[in-house]
Amino acid sequence: MSVKKIAVLISGGGTNLQALIDACESGQIPGSIDLVISSSKKAYGLERARMHDIDTMTYEGGGLKAFHEKVARELKERQVDFIVLAGYLKVLPASFTDAFRGQIINIHPSLIPKYCGVGFYGERVHQAVFEAGEKESGATVHFVDSGCDTGPILLQEKVSLEEGDSPDVIAKKVLKVEHKILPKALELLCSDQVFLNEKGEVQWKKER
Ligand code: GRF
Repeated sequence: MSVKKIAVLISGGGTNLQALIDACESGQIPGSIDLVISSSKKAYGLERARMHDIDTMTYEGGGLKAFHEKVARELKERQVDFIVLAGYLKVLPASFTDAFRGQIINIHPSLIPKYCGVGFYGERVHQAVFEAGEKESGATVHFVDSGCDTGPILLQEKVSLEEGDSPDVIAKKVLKVEHKILPKALELLCSDQVFLNEKGEVQWKKER
């Protein structure tokens, strides 16, 4: 099995990116991170990439449409196999998600279909979970389509919440799960154990 090429899109601290870097370097994921793309020059995730000699590409203004077109060209040129949205806060246009159908996954910090969609990101998710008095939360890895957090679900894992868990405590519990299921999802994809079929369904290889 050939080592798959991965690109990761970030906007912030990059702890999910770090989890992927570690999982590739440990051999858990039969893949290598070829490029890290950030919507922000200040994202600490860029520093994480540089410390591991991974190429980076950063939005320097001039309009997101042109930037996403440039990113798409670069990813095609590098023949990247999978693209991971790891805290990427910009919405990718349909032209981008169509061009990489079945190759893009996203990590979302809730149990989709709850607390997802436009406006539900980062601490806003955990605040809503807290205000609703939920007894559980969790994280979801899903394939990315042209919607917002709407693509087919690949992996999901729950965390139980205690009475009085603050949004911050919820965020920490969920982030731990994110750092587990995102590398796991990429391990499954890069080892061809699962894929998005022609009908847009998550299809598992028989021998599971
Ligand atoms: C995570 O909570 C992730 O679920 C959300 O954005 C955050 C990214 O965190 N999409 P980090 O930049 O990976 O630390």
